[in-house]
Amino acid sequence: MVETNGSSSEPVFLIFGKSGWIGGLVGDLLKQQGANFQFANARLEDRSGVIAELERVKPTHVLNAAGVTGRPNVDWCETHKLETIRSNLLGCITLADVCLERGIHMTYYGTGCIFHYDDVFPQGSGKGFKESDKPNFTGSYYSYVKAMTESLIREFPNVLTLRVRMPIVADLTYPRNFITKIIKYDKVIDIPNSMTVLPELLPLSIEMAKRKLTGIMNFTNPGAISHNEILQLYKDYIDPEFTWSNFTVEEQAKVIVAPRSNNLLDTARIEGEFPELLPIRESLIKYVFEPNAAKREETLAAVKEMRGR
Ligand SMILES: NC(=O)c1ccc[n+]([C@@H]2O[C@H](COP(=O)([O-])OP(=O)(O)OC[C@H]3O[C@@H](n4cnc5c(N)ncnc54)[C@H](OP(=O)(O)O)[C@@H]3O)[C@@H](O)[C@H]2O)c1
Repeated sequence: MVETNGSSSEPVFLIFGKSGWIGGLVGDLLKQQGANFQFANARLEDRSGVIAELERVKPTHVLNAAGVTGRPNVDWCETHKLETIRSNLLGCITLADVCLERGIHMTYYGTGCIFHYDDVFPQGSGKGFKESDKPNFTGSYYSYVKAMTESLIREFPNVLTLRVRMPIVADLTYPRNFITKIIKYDKVIDIPNSMTVLPELLPLSIEMAKRKLTGIMNFTNPGAISHNEILQLYKDYIDPEFTWSNFTVEEQAKVIVAPRSNNLLDTARIEGEFPELLPIRESLIKYVFEPNAAKREETLAAVKEMRGR
């Protein structure tokens, strides 16, 4: 850890990713906490614009939730390679570097979609990828660039990189929510994965920033859960009539452009910081399914409208 600004006074947060999903949620949390924060307007790769923003706000902590994620999905990056490099590599590193020059701690909401089950980390073995493991999945351009960024940014002593995976929120109609996606798809694969229940984990990211943790952090709930297990929870808690069908990874490949990663991340580091962190299934029940079951009719109507059936 490096000596950074504001170690004794109230933290001042500057969030990049104002219009984004995670950036917006982090802003909401800081507002609820009554924290001192602002949103940045500069583009990440615009070094002088970023410097001006830091001079204006004088943050003790930068929270970087900016980057291209692709619309409607990461396949967009396959055909927008320069934009992907500019935001997700050059931009992210520029921001980290400018923060380093000023002794500012930066938290980077990165991704864990840079790993894939293989012979050394077989699916179902319980052996998860650690923070020290080098990315082994570069099958999509999004993941390829993200893996490169992670391998560079780990050299910055002021940066905490959070490996987010398949983020989940309670709103089962929000299109970016992993559960919304799998409820809506005609067919789903069925593979256990590490996932990030945002209502439980995002507050911890703010706490980690305050603690000025650095390095890489697998930012998921402990354990893995499969698509079918989640859909079964949806059926049990919300819609007993819900049905779905599975397809194989090979069949899935025909409806997407680039391959997707499936993996288990090791959560020893985050559990060491937050021993109360719930395993993925318990977290989903507490933060997603029980709150929706408490307003079951409303949720069911909204999901049916979203699915168009
Ligand atoms: N959502 C997921 O499934 C997921 C999963 C794992 C990890 N993550 C990571 O978490 C981070 C946030 O994701 P998200 O889902 O919140 O993304 P998002 O909803 O797509 O929002 C991205 C934000 O980044 C901003 N942005 C993009 N390029 C920028 C640039 N060059 N300079 C400044 N701002 C820029 C966007 O602003 P404009 O609209 O103005 O460009 C937007 O505010 C990303 O690093 C993403 O890779 C997301």
